[in-house]
Amino acid sequence: MSDKVDLKALFEPKSVAVVGASSNPVKIGHKVLNNILAGGYRGEVYPVNPKGGEILGLKVYKRVVEIEGAVDLAVVVVPAPVVFDVVQDCVAAKVKFLIIITSGFSEVGNRREEKKIVDFARKHGMRVLGPNVFGMYSAKVSLNASFGPSKILPGKIAIITQSGALGGAMVGRSVVDRIGLSAIISVGNKSDLDEADLLQYLKEDEQTRVVLMYIEGIKNGGKLIKTLKSMPEDKHVVVVKSGRSKRGALAAASHTGSLAGSDNVFNGIAEQCGILRAESVDDAFNWARVLSELPTVEGDNTVIITNGGGLGVMCADACEKYGVPLMDDSVFLQRVFKDVMPEFGSARNPIDLTGEAGVEEYKVSLKKALKAKEINAVLALYCETGVFDPEGMSDMVIDMGQVYKKSKPILFSMLGGEKVEEIIDETRKKGVHVFDDVYDAASALGALYGRKRFVDEIKHSVETPDVRIDVVSIKRIISKARSEDRRFLMPDEAKEIMKLVGLTLPRWRIARSLDEAVSFAEEIGYPAVLKIVSEDIIHKTDAGGVALDLENKNEVIDAYQAIMKSCRTKFPKARIRGIEVCEMVPKGVETIVGGTLDPSFGPVVMFGLGGIYVETLKDVTFRAVPLTLNDAKKMVRGINAYPILLGVRGEKQKDIKGIVDVLLRVGKLMEKIEDVSDIEINPLMVYEYGEGVKVVDVRILLKQKGENV
Ligand code: COA
Repeated sequence: MSDKVDLKALFEPKSVAVVGASSNPVKIGHKVLNNILAGGYRGEVYPVNPKGGEILGLKVYKRVVEIEGAVDLAVVVVPAPVVFDVVQDCVAAKVKFLIIITSGFSEVGNRREEKKIVDFARKHGMRVLGPNVFGMYSAKVSLNASFGPSKILPGKIAIITQSGALGGAMVGRSVVDRIGLSAIISVGNKSDLDEADLLQYLKEDEQTRVVLMYIEGIKNGGKLIKTLKSMPEDKHVVVVKSGRSKRGALAAASHTGSLAGSDNVFNGIAEQCGILRAESVDDAFNWARVLSELPTVEGDNTVIITNGGGLGVMCADACEKYGVPLMDDSVFLQRVFKDVMPEFGSARNPIDLTGEAGVEEYKVSLKKALKAKEINAVLALYCETGVFDPEGMSDMVIDMGQVYKKSKPILFSMLGGEKVEEIIDETRKKGVHVFDDVYDAASALGALYGRKRFVDEIKHSVETPDVRIDVVSIKRIISKARSEDRRFLMPDEAKEIMKLVGLTLPRWRIARSLDEAVSFAEEIGYPAVLKIVSEDIIHKTDAGGVALDLENKNEVIDAYQAIMKSCRTKFPKARIRGIEVCEMVPKGVETIVGGTLDPSFGPVVMFGLGGIYVETLKDVTFRAVPLTLNDAKKMVRGINAYPILLGVRGEKQKDIKGIVDVLLRVGKLMEKIEDVSDIEINPLMVYEYGEGVKVVDVRILLKQKGENV
């Protein structure tokens, strides 16, 4: 299957057939036809219904094959049992695209029928959107082939939605908020075309500035990542994602596996691809509007201008929350704003004009901020006061909104009674970005900064070093485990693989008896560590299967016996293959590096602070492979505990470079060795800058038979 589909005839069809068009106004087949006509579609429209006759003034064809002209797109609105017959007719009529609105397929377990339809269509070169969709709208040809609202405003935002109902609701909302759309497409069961295919078209569509996606589950994450990574820097993707992957929760063979089950993987991939993840549809719309209408933000100096101290402080908090950097050069700000502020006002950011400020003071200060090229963005706040002049205020906000659009972003936030509400409504109608909550304003500006940071990072990222791993020797070890019908690699095999990916380990040996344990400890030297070796004991410490810091022979004997007793009591059925004796490594910062197979995105790599709290704190970051140097660095910087790696309370910085190197190597392993399902280095001991890192323990699992992620 080729990666790129030419979707021109879907988004810009010259002719559309509505199969199942009905004269009954309450039926979906009527609404679709009506929407197509009411929306002003410029191509040919062919209603199809076995009854023939006329609907909404158009001649009705009894079958698709009877239509004289070519049909680019057929919208299917017949009941599920009849869909296959219609699809056969469409193939015979050489229809290019099908939108199957009909429900009753894989979403209710009827996979066979869905597959039959799609296989047949694909075999004959016809592509399918759906089934179980609400249709689509494409501004380019004014086509509203949906049974959603009739009225849609054309504009620059494209919506791709997995939920048809939510899609309909979003169209309604876009009209109320006067948001223009370039397209809206519901993907439904994604039996053939999916988000990535649609993005390929929208990526090149000149009218679309922002793509807003509502996603529940992703089938082919690898394809989606590739497409997202290829989006141009001036085209933005905002995603609202619900639903969680269950794999981690079901089969937690490692910390990495169980942590991957949370939303962490999607968040990591969003960062990796520069897409903005919104928590709510409200945020998504606000961000999409700002991204599609305002100029890009050029630098890190945002200024808050307010007539209320409290509002200003709240806004500063919101800026911190949403990653909006505030200008802190108070000498400069004093110079710029001194004329417009009363003695008691503050020229530290937020610039407080005080409650005495009227429309004029506002206007002058906004003009000053516009002129000062050092200022990159403005958050203009207003709360209703005694000197409030509603009329002058509306005009000023509209004027300023318009002049700013040519050079830098300005976002307003206003708070007050009825009159303020009227101003908000009036100014929004004129396309000014006015919010009623400072948090919404800061969050929208945060979206602009989020994109700026991503684009800057890409521009300044250095080339990823070429990491080589010994694939042939690694595969040989895996084949041996497979020949013994094992998914679990023995510690010696896992450690050998670590060497083959270029990582170093402390000295170690596996003892099969107490005598061997003692003699290995004497050979390796003290202090020593003993660890249980069993594929059935995943969390060794919890099972009492680890003893650290053993100073002499007697301590080794005691520890050996204690480990055996504890593991046999807690896991009576576990296969115990021996006890690993290894060199006790010096204490450093314990971290964890893992790799697992995400059911949607395939191989992913994880980094986090290790130790006993890893699953409780869930302070981990994920990225999909292949990893770039930039990805690996951001994974390290992305954990909340990053300051610990930078060194707290006079400690020296830790060897972050060493961690990044391990991440790249584990990423390469996950990328090149398809048979590995889970790898976990825990702990990866991290020492001070320049002193490196050490793989203290590693576990590797192979894919389950038949597991094909
Ligand atoms: N070719 C063309 N038209 C045909 C046909 C065929 N082979 N077989 C039947 N039809 C006509 C019917 O005669 C009827 O027209 P009529 O009103 O003139 O009699 C029309 O197609 C629709 O068939 P009907 O049996 O009345 O079904 P319906 O309109 O009640 O429901 C669906 C059809 C597709 C809407 C319904 O099956 C369905 O799937 N609804 C859910 C849709 C949905 O929610 N999708 C997901 C949104 S997110």
